[in-house]
Order: sequence, then C-alpha cells, then structure tokens
Amino acid sequence: MSAKYNLPYSHVTPETVYLNRRAMMAGFAGAGLLAATGAQAQDVPDFEIKGFDTTETPNTFEEITSYNNFYEFGTGKEDPMRNAHTLTTDPWSVEIDGMVERPGSYGLGDILAKVDIDERIYRFRCVEAWSMVIPWNGFELNQLLNLAGVQPSAKYVRFETLFRPEEMPGQRRPILDWPYVEGLRLDEAMHPLTIMATGLYGQELPNQNGAPLRLVVPWKYGFKSIKSVVKITLQEEQPVNTWKATNHREYGFYSNVNPEVSHPRWSQATERRIGGGLFASRIATVKFNGYEEQVGDLYRGLDLTKNY
Ligand code: MTE
Repeated sequence: MSAKYNLPYSHVTPETVYLNRRAMMAGFAGAGLLAATGAQAQDVPDFEIKGFDTTETPNTFEEITSYNNFYEFGTGKEDPMRNAHTLTTDPWSVEIDGMVERPGSYGLGDILAKVDIDERIYRFRCVEAWSMVIPWNGFELNQLLNLAGVQPSAKYVRFETLFRPEEMPGQRRPILDWPYVEGLRLDEAMHPLTIMATGLYGQELPNQNGAPLRLVVPWKYGFKSIKSVVKITLQEEQPVNTWKATNHREYGFYSNVNPEVSHPRWSQATERRIGGGLFASRIATVKFNGYEEQVGDLYRGLDLTKNY
C-alpha cells in the first residue's frame, strides 16, 4: 500500500513542524516554538483545526508505536512493536456482508479512492487506565458503510480482525478466542467521531497499531478499537465481542469510558497519561472520554451501570 493514501496534506510532515503548526493554529506558544525550529510561516495554510480535535499535546510517534495492545503479536506492551513487522498488509481487502445492499470483498485501494481521509486528534483511553493523545489519519466509518449500503433492518455492526497464525504468533496460542471480534450499535458506527484509521502523524499506520485499517471509537475503552480489520457484518443481533466473551463480568458490550463505573479489579476514576514520566500525577478520567457533548444523546435512558 502506498503512503499517499494516508496523507491529508501534500507532503509528509516532520513531527516537530507538525506540532508547531498545531500550537500556532491553536493560538499558544507558536512564536517561541517556531523560532526554535525554524519552521516557515508557509507551513501553516494547509492546516486546519477541526471541531473534533483535542488541543491537548499529542503523544510522540515513538510512544504511540512502542506501547501497544495487540495480543495477536504477544501480550507484552512492546511485543507488537517487536513482532508485528511479520504482518503482510498489502494486498488487503475487507469483506462486507450481512444486511447490506452491495455485499462483497472491498479492496483497500478501492475503498481509499472513494472516502475522504481526514486528520483527527483524539484522546485514547484504555480500560487498563492508561491514556494517550493520538493524531490519527483516517475516514469516517459511515462512508464505508454507505459504500456497501446499509439495509434498514440492520441494528449492529460486527468487526473481525485477520486470522493468520503464520504471521501472527499470538494466534498460535489460545490467549483469546481468535479471531478478535468487536461490535458497535449501528448509530454508534454511523457517528462522525467513529473512524477507520489508516495513518498516524500523516504517515502510514504502523503494523503494531493495526495496519492497514483499524477502528477508532474515541469515547469507548481502547479494546473496542479493533485492529487490522478484514470483515464487517451488518446484523440484527448484538455481536459477541471478544473481551466480553472472555470475561463478561469485567468487560461489556458498550464499554463507554465512565469514571463512575469501576472495573471489578480497579477504579476507572483516574488514568495515567503515557509519557508523563514516573512522577506525573494521575489525571481525572472524564465521562465518555470527554466526548459527552457529541455522543451523550446516544445513551439517553440507558442504565450505564448495567450496560457497561
Ligand atoms: N485489536 C486486536 N485485533 N487485537 C488486540 O489485542 N487490543 C485492543 C485494541 N484493538 C487489540 C485490538 C486494546 S486492549 C487496545 S487498548 C487498543 O487496541 C490499543 O491500541 P494501540 O496499541 O494502537 O494503542
């Protein structure tokens, strides 16, 4: 797959210049940072702060790509970085089936030619109580679902990760019931915050982060953001997601970030921001990971203690 698919700009942007642009556009510390790196004023115009972006400082590319959960490559945080290079991501296609008008195998190149690649700087909160801020590149999942044409009877979307034990060493052991499966309610899947990520920092998505195509649902715990997706099914029944199947007392279907509902073995009230250093204080976790204004309406009338 060519890197060009992931680029919302005309060229790959070095991380320092990238961060300076953000600082300038957000209206803080711009001048000092600019002077320090010698970034040019003409770097600015192709940049746009959009409504969904957080202005919190993004984690570094290195942090985002060296502290991962991707059990197909091992359960250690650095295992995916070490092992995921074995994954072949080109060619890649996504099977879309179930309650759709145009079921079939969608080649990644064909998909990318028809969607709008965008940049989204999202908070990312893992159920293990660590968090990051990640500048993704990707497109809204609703664009892909509309390509396939969702039938009115569909209520849920089921996602499946690639099953290829010869390239994914973790799949040779029964760590989880492979392949990894996740699910969303259709309205969650169609929400404009829900994206399929294809890149990071304007670069092709590294394998350890779920190349070439992974779901990102920023108001839910990170395990909903399923990696290396090869199958999407529109269906009437609620899908059985892998972590719920593994331990339904600890992990539910909804998995909305919620500081008021503890994990049975730890509190979800606070989180550790990766990169903060050993002595950094924990920060308060915000309901729906800070996206309540955008998604709160989806859950009116739902008991979030029962629907965890
Ligand atoms: N997808 C697959 N296929 N396998 C996994 O083990 N881990 C999940 C999620 N998606 C996982 C997955 C969990 S627990 C988290 S927190 C995020 O991916 C981590 O994403 P990151 O490594 O890009 O930060």
